[in-house]
Amino acid sequence: MDKILVLDFGGQYDQLIARRVRAAGVYAEIERYGSISCEGILSRGFRGIIFTGGPNSVYAGSSPKYDAKVLGLGIPVLGICYGHQLLAYLAGGTIAPAQSGSEYGRTELRIPGGSPLFQGVPEKSVCWMSHSDAVAAVPEGFETLAGTDSCPCAAMGDEKRKLYGVQFHPEVTHTEYGETVLKNFVFGICGCSADWRMGDVLEQTVEKYRRELSGQRVLLGLSGGVDSSVAAALLQRAVGDGLTCVFVDHGLLRKGEGDLVEKTFGERLGKGFVRVDAQERFLRKLRGVTDPETKRRIIGEEFIRVFEEEAAKLGRIDVLAQGTIYPDVIESGKGDSAVIKSHHNVGGLPERMSFGRIAEPLRELFKDEVRELGEELGLPRELVRRQPFPGPGLGVRIVGEVTNEKLDMLREADAVFREELESEGLNEQVGQYFAALTDTKSVGVMGDARTYGYVCALRAVTTDDFMTASWTHLPYGLLERVSSRITNEVPGITRVVYDITSKPPATVEWE
Ligand code: XMP
Repeated sequence: MDKILVLDFGGQYDQLIARRVRAAGVYAEIERYGSISCEGILSRGFRGIIFTGGPNSVYAGSSPKYDAKVLGLGIPVLGICYGHQLLAYLAGGTIAPAQSGSEYGRTELRIPGGSPLFQGVPEKSVCWMSHSDAVAAVPEGFETLAGTDSCPCAAMGDEKRKLYGVQFHPEVTHTEYGETVLKNFVFGICGCSADWRMGDVLEQTVEKYRRELSGQRVLLGLSGGVDSSVAAALLQRAVGDGLTCVFVDHGLLRKGEGDLVEKTFGERLGKGFVRVDAQERFLRKLRGVTDPETKRRIIGEEFIRVFEEEAAKLGRIDVLAQGTIYPDVIESGKGDSAVIKSHHNVGGLPERMSFGRIAEPLRELFKDEVRELGEELGLPRELVRRQPFPGPGLGVRIVGEVTNEKLDMLREADAVFREELESEGLNEQVGQYFAALTDTKSVGVMGDARTYGYVCALRAVTTDDFMTASWTHLPYGLLERVSSRITNEVPGITRVVYDITSKPPATVEWE
């Protein structure tokens, strides 16, 4: 299988680049610049290398650099943004602050001549720029291939050595012909074939685990989320009865969710599916607790305790399976970003338990690929296309203390919101949408009587990667219907507000 290396220099779009390459049918892997050497690149057989962007300036002492030998490996390179400047720097060119200061946003790109990188791209098109430095003098052997008003060298190339750089971001959708540029690089310049298909991935993965896990007893913690569900369906195909899935229902799920999980997996796994109803236990632990981080910690720990107890009842278990996906692997490797929230996943399971082996069948896949695989496996669309749901569930969507009464209110309000949004067909366009219950009570009036009830907040965000998100401009008519239905149908909620904060400064969840 042909592979492209995405060499990460700290850019915010590194995952997007890899996803775009994979969407074109070519397998792409991300490595931090410090974690792979030129020898490593050669031995792993990459057909091409993409240097990502990054927030630095190449002349800053602390900026990420790379061994210049990479340019002589005979492997084509495409540098993007900072990667473009780094390529110029490594090849002996000059970088300087951009003539007109920073250039940010949509810009007209002009391409005078026919480079293989720009095949099929018109002479004038729109690209997305975001930079303060620029290539001032191209290195020897390179030619300028494109420019904008304020950036004379918006692209350069050394056709002989197959080294290319673009100052703009071909991976973002605002760049009109970005996909064409990436495909030109991957297919035309690197000569890759499009052999990364989910159907094949499925067959190969099932075959691998059938071979490796034959006769073993495999345990998987099922949360009902997309990742653990797809991992379960896949492993079930590989090891059949050897798989047991434990679904810890902590009572913090959305309306109907626990039953959907039970229906889907109960049928598939028969005796291999165990649902543990632990709602009372979680509520007891959460009684009186209002601090968000403490709530998260309690839910995470309790989850592990319940899971351990159930596992102990099952007797011998050889393998613990987890629904870890590629972004989890990359994120945990980065390790230098601040902890904003302690995310709890079923993935981060028991340290105290001992297993011969951990199986992570999805660890090479992005979320959209996991969803595709889930569909190949015949899982219901409502499960596979589910929007993300935090491990601690409604526990972090109820501000303050979690009680049974509040959970019931929130489940109903959230179901109304989801139903209305789905009936408008907006569910696949909005990245995430849900209701949260605030701990504020407010005065209202209903049928001539005074009411005093909770304020419910609606949240809908548009996002590519959940690292940043903007609040979605939902139609007023929809908001009006949702508000009216919630206040009429959900006793205890007397006021509905719409959250118009983006991330940053807010986060997606309320806690
Ligand atoms: P925040 O609130 O951090 O959320 O902006 C970003 C995305 O992550 C989800 N999220 C979680 N997912 N365990 C998870 O598996 C968690 O503890 C958790 N907290 C937030 C959130 O729903 C959003 O999609």
